Amino acid sequence: MLSSLFMLPAFVALSVQAPPPPPPPPQTPETYDNSSRATRPLTFNSDGTFQISVFNDLHFGENAWDSWGPQQDIYSVKVINEVLERESPDLVVLNGDLITGENTFLENSTVYVDQIVGPIVQRDLPFASSFGNHDYDFNISGEAILAREKRWPNSRTRSMVPGRQAGVSNYYLPVYPPECNKCGCAPEMLLWFFDSRGGFYFQELNADGTRQPQPGWVDSSVVEWFRATNARITARFGKTIPSLAFVHIPTNASLALQTEHGPNGINPNRQPGINDDYPLAQQAQGWCPDGRNDASCAYGGQDVPFMQALVRTPGLIGVFSGHDHGDTWCYKWDHLVPGMSVAGNGINLCFGQHSGYGGYGHWIRGSRQVRVSREMLKKSWEAETWIRLESGKVVGSVSLNSTYGTDVYPATPDDMTYCPTLIVGRW
Ligand SMILES: *[C@@H]1O[C@H](CO)[C@@H](O)[C@H](O)[C@H]1NC(C)=O
Ligand SMILES: *[C@@H]1O[C@H](CO)[C@@H](O)[C@H](O)[C@H]1NC(C)=O
Ligand SMILES: *[C@@H]1O[C@H](CO)[C@@H](O)[C@H](O)[C@H]1NC(C)=O
Ligand SMILES: *[C@@H]1O[C@H](CO)[C@@H](O)[C@H](O)[C@H]1NC(C)=O
Ligand SMILES: *[C@@H]1O[C@H](CO)[C@@H](O)[C@H](O)[C@H]1NC(C)=O
Repeated sequence: MLSSLFMLPAFVALSVQAPPPPPPPPQTPETYDNSSRATRPLTFNSDGTFQISVFNDLHFGENAWDSWGPQQDIYSVKVINEVLERESPDLVVLNGDLITGENTFLENSTVYVDQIVGPIVQRDLPFASSFGNHDYDFNISGEAILAREKRWPNSRTRSMVPGRQAGVSNYYLPVYPPECNKCGCAPEMLLWFFDSRGGFYFQELNADGTRQPQPGWVDSSVVEWFRATNARITARFGKTIPSLAFVHIPTNASLALQTEHGPNGINPNRQPGINDDYPLAQQAQGWCPDGRNDASCAYGGQDVPFMQALVRTPGLIGVFSGHDHGDTWCYKWDHLVPGMSVAGNGINLCFGQHSGYGGYGHWIRGSRQVRVSREMLKKSWEAETWIRLESGKVVGSVSLNSTYGTDVYPATPDDMTYCPTLIVGRW
């Protein structure tokens, strides 16, 4: 034994002696450096760009009493890390269904927020959420998730519209020029976040013991706030400020565009992306015009005021949604789809990529990236967008410019990935 040890080359002996550096202590809200860039107002970079990484449908917290749920969460954290290793976003957007609320326990339903934001706070990035239908259930609510987020100074999520009908995550964030990070400066871009609600009310039961469903569309009180606030900002700065919008559940316009020309209406080269959820699920699905939610009517038109407000907002480049895990395309809504009452104005309606291992479907996980540049915005309201997959690959890279919809791009392959514990599993 001894003699063989003596025969080891010197460098091995050295490396054996050097103790490994202690791992950095995990960050907690209490130890987080509150002076980091994550806590400052959002500004364009000195190179004039601003990039957002969108993670939607992370669906943390499934089957905590089992092994496969927590295993999925480990993989979802890995997805976030893989994406953030390769992209350099200035803001991370969590675009709804952060948590699978119906699987959670009252006493710890929001602890998953810390797992989700771990890779984000490690990189000193700010994040902003819109809540989805699974973020609202008997044991969880948008309010509770927001409170858990707010332990981190990185959270930019706000709640600007009061009232039970409004939901929680309705707010805007200004993005300032690089040299200016004071609130008095004119913002150069606005980011709007809307709460499409859905799911169930927190800790409320019907007389028969069933959960109390929450309407699933952007409420008219929010639409009114959006109109008034945008008008006030436009008047104050004397100009249209370009903007992007985030909402978990897409509107009826996305369904109308998807189905207008039948199942092959989404062109793989002109609107590259997966189009497996056909027909897609939209806001107000299952809600009758008279308020009943018994699935007896397919659609009551409750998102019409929201769609009208979207197309009447000049400078709004795109609306980004999740919810339909099997759809990942962008479509330029530039006409009146037969049967609809609202005509598009050229606004781009985009899905993201299913980001979490929780939730239905095995489409390869990833994250939509959106990048705007000040130079571009001075000439026209457009953005670049692509999807960064967990494999490191980029798909669906397009320019949301005036010719989007006629430009030709490579098609997106319909790849699948599986959580190891689920390969021979239940689903
Ligand atoms: C950061 O601010 C929070 C309150 O916003 C505080 O609880 C925490 O102790 C601060 N962290 C440090 C390292 O100062
Ligand atoms: C939450 O509580 C449940 C029930 O007490 C437990 O099974 C589960 O492991 C807990 N989850 C977390 C993430 O702490
Ligand atoms: C809510 O949480 C409680 C307490 O942990 C648990 O007993 C119950 O099963 C949960 N209910 C639902 C509907 O998830
Ligand atoms: C919603 O879209 C469907 C499908 O195109 C269409 O038939 C319907 O008229 C639309 N509803 C409204 C209120 O625009
Ligand atoms: C829009 O972007 C595509 C891809 O970069 C490009 O081919 C096309 O010429 C652009 N259209 C305009 C009007 O700039």
